[in-house]
Amino acid sequence: MKPTLESGAADQQKTQCLVLFVSKEKQAPAVAQINTATGKLLDTLTTRGDLPPVAGKTLLLPAVTGIPAERLLLVATGEQPLTAPIIDKLCAGLAAGLKSASVQEATVVIDGLAGAETEETHLIALLARSVVNASYCFREYKSTQEEEQENEQTSRLEQVTFLQSDQNNLEQNRQALAEGSAVATGMTLARNLGNEPGNVCTPSWLAQQAQTVAQDNARMEVKVLGEQEMQELGMEAFVSVSKGSSQEGKLISIRYSGGQTDEAPVVLLGKGITFDTGGISLKPGAGMEEMKYDMCGAASVLGTMKALAELQLPLNVVGLIAAAENMPAGNASKPGDIVTSLSGQTIEIINTDAEGRLVLCDALTWAEQNLKPAVVIDIATLTGACVIALGHHISALMSNDDNLAEQLVAAAERSRDTTWRLPLDDRFQKQIDSPFADVCNSGGRPAGSITAGCFLSRFARNLCWAHLDIAGVAWKSDGEKGATGRPVPLLVQYLMDRALAKH
Ligand code: BES
Ligand code: MN
Ligand code: ZN
Repeated sequence: MKPTLESGAADQQKTQCLVLFVSKEKQAPAVAQINTATGKLLDTLTTRGDLPPVAGKTLLLPAVTGIPAERLLLVATGEQPLTAPIIDKLCAGLAAGLKSASVQEATVVIDGLAGAETEETHLIALLARSVVNASYCFREYKSTQEEEQENEQTSRLEQVTFLQSDQNNLEQNRQALAEGSAVATGMTLARNLGNEPGNVCTPSWLAQQAQTVAQDNARMEVKVLGEQEMQELGMEAFVSVSKGSSQEGKLISIRYSGGQTDEAPVVLLGKGITFDTGGISLKPGAGMEEMKYDMCGAASVLGTMKALAELQLPLNVVGLIAAAENMPAGNASKPGDIVTSLSGQTIEIINTDAEGRLVLCDALTWAEQNLKPAVVIDIATLTGACVIALGHHISALMSNDDNLAEQLVAAAERSRDTTWRLPLDDRFQKQIDSPFADVCNSGGRPAGSITAGCFLSRFARNLCWAHLDIAGVAWKSDGEKGATGRPVPLLVQYLMDRALAKH
């Protein structure tokens, strides 16, 4: 779904659902118009307390006389100014309200949004992203049509028009809409890939998906390394993870050339474990089905590449995907096995369930050797400890470069896809020293996310590098289950900021 932006009179709109942002303090002209046309209905509802002045509270009026719109959805803006957390609530309220309205089409009046701490254009981008995400559904494997299914809403949102009453900044606002919509397109792809089951989404299938993203785009090119080639290059850490699976491991690269030919690329490296059983260090059975999401880092890389192509940013970016399936088998890695990584460092595999860092460390070295990157950001559902530390709202950021870390935190705040930096202090490195090899792949329970970051940092010494642990934010297991599409917004924002800083 691609939302559009028009200019026109709110009280003249023939729409299934007219959405208004209602502020207590002052009524925007379009909101005042509707108030008048409906015989001061909005005044009545706000003074009576039917729509309390709490940010994101909604009220759906299924039939309203005086205007041609079939329904009216009111979203309260709460106090002014509209700070970032309030904007989050407005976006969430709008999405939830539209879902509960169960309409195919809606018109969202943006006039009532004055007084935001951020520019109006950015607010439009965030709202556009929210409505597209509200229209998302994954029904690939449902054999009946949604309409036939009982207890489900009958209509899904197919079209949204943003409406402004004046002609001001129409072009800038449309550009913002396109930006938000590109982010949403990337998130939709990331969600679709994440939600696919492990028997479909294999490393080879992910390679095909990369081809699909690159298809018909002259600026994009895909290359795939197989397990044999990786073995020959000396990527033993990577291969140690995939060798127990009948599915061949793949290192997938998708290059987007939008910058100067000689310009060093930004590399986005995604963990693409298409299913993580834990291997010989087998995971408990309960909830193991969620480990199909262990490729959400890879999914976010492909989603970001898709958004990037849509936005045509003047940058060179390489999406790298370390794709493998982690299975127990007669030929699988065993605890205590020692492998030599592409960097030459030897690794004692004390836990085969700490597989993400094994595929990523070799991909980092491969990137350093083959891509000469300006920046490398890896994105991984790396540790359960990250979920314990930061829950499901905030991803963990670690970096060997303060500048890069600050840029990522800023992009995360702006895109409302928040992250929090954890320290990569030398004192934690001791936990991953091995008595037999250069390093071991698990630091035990204390500071599990940090020691995973420390492990990766040993393979990023010559890189300007950051690591995003998205174990808590990549999917939801309660409420509306499924992949979230995060951190596509953060990554696209970082790239947009970088493109802007360059020019
Ligand atoms: N994919 C998991 C991390 C994970 C677990 C993400 C649960 C989201 C929810 C990763 O491969 C893993 O198993 N990590 C281990 C590392 C440990 C063995 C050092 C973990 O977190 O337990
Ligand atoms: Mn694991
Ligand atoms: Zn894993």
